[in-house]
Amino acid sequence: MSVGTTGTAGRSSDPIIRVYHASKSYLPGTFALHDLTLEVHRGEFVFLTGPSGAGKTTLLKLLFSAERPTEGQIILRGRNIARLSAAAVPALRRRIGVVFQDYKLLQSRTVEENVAVALEVLGVPPREIRARVFSMLKQVGLQHRRTHHPLSLSGGEQQRVSIARALVNEPEILLADEPTGNLDPELTIEIMDLLANASLRGTTVMVATHDLGLIDRYGKRRLALEGGRLKDDIPAHRFT
Ligand SMILES: Nc1ncnc2c1ncn2[C@@H]1O[C@H](COP(=O)(O)OP(=O)(O)O)[C@@H](O)[C@H]1O
Ligand SMILES: [Mg+2]
Repeated sequence: MSVGTTGTAGRSSDPIIRVYHASKSYLPGTFALHDLTLEVHRGEFVFLTGPSGAGKTTLLKLLFSAERPTEGQIILRGRNIARLSAAAVPALRRRIGVVFQDYKLLQSRTVEENVAVALEVLGVPPREIRARVFSMLKQVGLQHRRTHHPLSLSGGEQQRVSIARALVNEPEILLADEPTGNLDPELTIEIMDLLANASLRGTTVMVATHDLGLIDRYGKRRLALEGGRLKDDIPAHRFT
């Protein structure tokens, strides 16, 4: 089921994410994910939904190689990462931006230093780091806060810093776990627009949320998990 393309040797039609009969068992006899198979194409924006305990976070962790599947394959850009060596994990993660619900910002660093970290680990020259961090902070509307520390910011501002950090190195894949869980409706829309814009620029975006209003508003593809299984895969603009 490949999608037609107009160039780049056909590779762009390969799914960037392919989960193949993947299961994850944290405790013997129980499954957080059970025989999950799905594909996501480059530049797609996908909501991951389902009630608490459905396996959303576990799936994101498998994609980020924070956990390994008990069975099956996790194929990113054609490469199975299910058995990746520990030494290869950092290189994989540099291509993936992650946004956590609790931000995970470094409290002892300023806003701009938190965002710069993502580029420092790549060895980007300091002058380029400064320019890219400034431009990214401008995009999330926080350039005036760049020398502040995270704890002096509101929840929504901290979440925008974490999104800036996740996007500043233009990752191929962005994974966001309940990124708007703590935000009011206005900020929720701001944050979601940022993520939707990233997908328009070619980043593949997967957002876990149980906010059905959010999903309705954006009309994107929706993968619904329940009890660790894929219950539904609803294409963009076609759900009720
Ligand atoms: N580290 C863990 N150890 C044991 N069980 C876990 C762990 N993480 C998640 N689980 C269990 O796996 C299931 C799926 O959890 P999770 O992926 O966090 O779901 P969701 O993000 O959809 O709420 C739940 O039953 C949860 O209790
Ligand atoms: Mg979760």
